[in-house]
Amino acid sequence: MEEQKFVHFSIMKEEVCSLLAPDKPGQLLVDCTMGEGGHSLEFLSRFPDLNVVGLDADPEIQKKAKERLASYGDRVSFENTYFDQYFKDYLGLPRPDRILIDLGISMFHYEESGRGFTFRKDEPLDMRLNPENPLSASIIVNEYEENDLANLIYEFGEERYSRRIARAIVRERSLTPLESAFQLAEIISHSVPPAYRHGRIHPATRSFQAIRIAVNDELGRLRSVLQDAVKALNPGGLIGVITFHSLEDRIVKHFFKDLNRDCICPPQQPRCSCGGARVVDVITRKPLVPTPEEIKVNPASRSSKLRVARRISDFWRESDV
Ligand SMILES: C[S@@+](CC[C@H](N)C(=O)[O-])C[C@H]1O[C@@H](n2cnc3c(N)ncnc32)[C@H](O)[C@@H]1O
Repeated sequence: MEEQKFVHFSIMKEEVCSLLAPDKPGQLLVDCTMGEGGHSLEFLSRFPDLNVVGLDADPEIQKKAKERLASYGDRVSFENTYFDQYFKDYLGLPRPDRILIDLGISMFHYEESGRGFTFRKDEPLDMRLNPENPLSASIIVNEYEENDLANLIYEFGEERYSRRIARAIVRERSLTPLESAFQLAEIISHSVPPAYRHGRIHPATRSFQAIRIAVNDELGRLRSVLQDAVKALNPGGLIGVITFHSLEDRIVKHFFKDLNRDCICPPQQPRCSCGGARVVDVITRKPLVPTPEEIKVNPASRSSKLRVARRISDFWRESDV
């Protein structure tokens, strides 16, 4: 009965819980993207000695997690913050032994938030995870210059028709301001060639993803949290990251790879000045992906990838990624 209030399927639950299982009593997991609390619930119920701090930028979804996890009392606490911000202000707080980052947005955002994340609903063009964010989807589509809009749709959506789409948006908004997700989706659909319009995915999928990424600075925050989260992690601790598209996965893959190298000094340098030691051990040589059974139950999981790394010691060296 209770569970029906929660609309999100947690990705690779089994794999996440077994790879990030605590190995000592009293350890701390920071769930950087708690959402409705699906992964955290799984950890709290399986590992009775584990404590959890759950972060989310979105105060509305966090209310749902608080309700869902209330029975775990003071084993779980909540912070309404962006994950990168949390680790920036981290000094003085207990160091985590486990960190989970499950990127992107929750089913809740598509189904219940009313903030225009999906082209399937007639909702205002907002797309902010946090209502205090000064930038919204409406500002991007109504105020950005055509060239900036096209670049953003190309870069964050990998959309090959970005120029046509930006041109159509600018033309339409000169007649009337764009207010709803439906309206934007219609403009995009009519701006692309018919074959693309009737293709495998909705023609507005990539543009909507791009605008959402820009509104919430998703890639900038990811780069920043990776550095600071691994720095905060206890030596021997584990970090797991679930990505949903190649832009995110590329960042995580290169970041782990970079910190997995011993010496990073230029070859012509006579003596090593970087410390010469790896910061992490990459546990997942290849990323884990959902089983065909999981994809069948939850098709939205099909593009997800899980990468896990262990912090080796207290030695720290910034990554260039
Ligand atoms: C994919 S959902 C997490 C689902 C969750 N693991 C579960 O099993 O229910 C991602 C969540 O992270 C939040 N989020 C995304 N970017 C964030 C950021 N930079 N800082 C904090 N929370 C963020 C979103 O609001 C969303 O609730």
